[in-house]
Parts: sequence; C-alpha cells; structure tokens
Amino acid sequence: MERNAFLRIAQDRYTTKHYNGRVIPREQFETLMEILRLAPTSVNAQAWHFFTAHTQEAREKLLPAFPEFNHARISRASDVVVFTVPTKLTDAHFERVLEKEAADGRFPNDEIRKQQDQGRRYFAGLHMKNEKDLVAWETHQAYIGLGTVVYAAAGMGIDSTCLEGLDYAKMDEILGLKGKGLTTAVVVSFGYRAPNDGNASRPKSRLRTEELFTSLD
Ligand SMILES: Cc1cc2nc3c(=O)[nH]c(=O)nc-3n(C[C@H](O)[C@H](O)[C@H](O)COP(=O)(O)O)c2cc1C
Repeated sequence: MERNAFLRIAQDRYTTKHYNGRVIPREQFETLMEILRLAPTSVNAQAWHFFTAHTQEAREKLLPAFPEFNHARISRASDVVVFTVPTKLTDAHFERVLEKEAADGRFPNDEIRKQQDQGRRYFAGLHMKNEKDLVAWETHQAYIGLGTVVYAAAGMGIDSTCLEGLDYAKMDEILGLKGKGLTTAVVVSFGYRAPNDGNASRPKSRLRTEELFTSLD
C-alpha cells in the first residue's frame, strides 16, 4: 500500500447525507463485513452481533427508529448495519469464544488456554457489575468496529454514514432484541453519494493539531 494512501482515505471520507440508491456489489459488502468481523475487541470478547438490512423492505422496517432528518441516510442507502451488544455476558459466551480460539489453534497447551479464559473473565468482569457498565464497555468495542469499517469502505470507494441519531429503544423493539439478550449500540449505512449531496463538497473541519495533541517528549 502506498505510504500516504490511508491519509488520503481519511481526507476523502465524509459523512454522506444523501445516497443515490445504487447497490453495493454483494462481494464488496461481504468483504466489508469480514473486515468488521476481524476488528479487535478487548480480551477478544467479541461481545457483539450485527444485523444487516439490504432490501428496501428490510431498510424500511428500520425507518421508524430514525427521526425524519436521518431518513435519507437509510432509505436510499444500499445497506444498513445495526451494531448490537449483549445485555449480559454469560458463561456460554465465554466458552464459545474460548472454544473458537482453541479450534483456531491459539493454545499450544491447556495451561495457556486456562490463562486466556481466566484473563478474559477477569477483565470483562470489571465491567459486569451492572448492565449499564457492561453495555458501555461493549459499545466502546463496537465503535472500534464502526471506525474500522467506515474507513475500509472509503478505501473501497463506498460511502457511509455513522448514525447515533436514532431511538435506541425503538430499534431494540423492531429487532426484538430484548428476547435475544441484545441492545442497540450504533448504526451505519453504506452506499454511494447522490450528485446533490452537499456534504460531499463541504471542506472538512477539525480543531487544530496544537489544540488536540500534547507532546510529553
Ligand atoms: C458515532 C457517530 C454518530 C453520528 N451520527 C450521525 C447521525 O445520526 N446523522 C448524521 O447525519 N450524521 C451523523 N454523524 C456524522 C458526524 O456529524 C460527522 O462525522 C462529523 O460532523 C464529521 O464530519 P465528516 O464525517 O464528514 O468528516 C455521526 C458520526 C459519528 C462518528
């Protein structure tokens, strides 16, 4: 990869407000979802589940969870991904992750396997005192996935919109998340910008480097 390729992606990526309705080729969307699956999480907890909406019908099902001003980011997008996280971390979840790591060949012996399990349960346990703390911790991880996937999309010429402007309880209800032990963390839509998307030509605005960074030398 060219040295400044990622910088250029960071300069070019922007929040798409209006999409043109074009569909992302399926294999490209699958690549994006694979990149999301590979995103890191603290102690590899992978305490998340993604709901994807590709058809117009599926996207319309999600619309009631969004205020009017965000509807254009959903209805003319190609794909919408709802990031959800569990409201409880169960033994079954820890075992599932451990078994997959074992199957993927991560443990040369039982001692290392045991250490990994204990370490994960310890660090996750620091956030398991109540549901609010747990969901906040898991949501931090979800945002790493969110950041990763929007930059990956930009690198593939796919536009995106991170979406926090929604009714989380309504989204939980639409997806029946309570019964699944999940709750909504954040949403992202993907597609291609419409020619009249004013945000595409607006210059990027960020606080100056000197205000944001302090060098400790
Ligand atoms: C987590 C997150 C949630 C956001 N939610 C919305 C949203 O609901 N609707 C929207 O139009 N833009 C939303 N934005 C876009 C931000 O306003 C935008 O990223 C910011 O102004 C910087 O502009 P840029 O992304 O074009 O560089 C969101 C961005 C992030 C990172």
